[in-house]
Amino acid sequence: MARPVGSAPVARHYLMCRPTYFAVEYAINPWMDPDAGVDRTRAIRQWEELRDLHLSLGHRVSEVAPVEGLPDMVFAANGGLVVDGRVYGARFASAERTPEGPAYLDWFRKAGYTETREPKHVNEGEGDFITMDDVILAATGFRTEAAAHQEAERFLGRPVVTLQLTDPRFYHLDTALFALSGEQIAYYPGAFSAGSRRVLRALYPDALLATEEDAAVLGLNAVCDGHDVVMAAEATALAGRLRALGYTVHPVELDELRKAGGGAKCCTLVLRDASV
Ligand code: ARG
Repeated sequence: MARPVGSAPVARHYLMCRPTYFAVEYAINPWMDPDAGVDRTRAIRQWEELRDLHLSLGHRVSEVAPVEGLPDMVFAANGGLVVDGRVYGARFASAERTPEGPAYLDWFRKAGYTETREPKHVNEGEGDFITMDDVILAATGFRTEAAAHQEAERFLGRPVVTLQLTDPRFYHLDTALFALSGEQIAYYPGAFSAGSRRVLRALYPDALLATEEDAAVLGLNAVCDGHDVVMAAEATALAGRLRALGYTVHPVELDELRKAGGGAKCCTLVLRDASV
């Protein structure tokens, strides 16, 4: 079972994007139904609650300006991968989201990040890359190309471990796995190929294994600072197990954004500056 919680939470710097233009106008994952209709005002309110929760937990939140016509830009986790202050830019798999790559890179440059990389290969940022202490876990199968894993490894100078996603509901790594700390994870094994399940078992033999029910409400799309876990309110079983391990769970209502296939983590890009 997962190691008990570390003593102090890590103060972090997050990047978020207000869902001013949020909509479900196209379907690029099985959660999206353009005919279902979204309540944008409600989406904005839910997003504000998430942002305020991050702030109340002692984290810093920067905001990138939303761009009209880019309804998925609220999912800031896809906007890049920042490790040791270096920014590996995103290159989206779908035409609909392609302009987000340059929009996010532009924000990074203006915010003073000097080491930025325009990627050659398709990758959707922290959606498919999860940075651990020793390695970066990276997924392929639906969005990010395996070649991008190597590109990121070379640019960031950190070892990248390739994992295969196999269930279209869990099309990004961060829909099926989250970091409890720099050395422990929680994940839903059913989202991965048999080989990748073996890799995860070997690397994290004591990981918290989530159920399909937890995963199906995007409960694994969670943000954990080592102490506090921000996650979908519906993932009650997973929340109970995390509490039993000593974590403080903060349930958030994000069902409006889930209509686009995103949750708490999708809305939150971790800015791992040089010291983090
Ligand atoms: N509609 C978006 C897409 O399909 C949702 C992205 C969710 N983001 C994430 N990090 N999983 O690309």
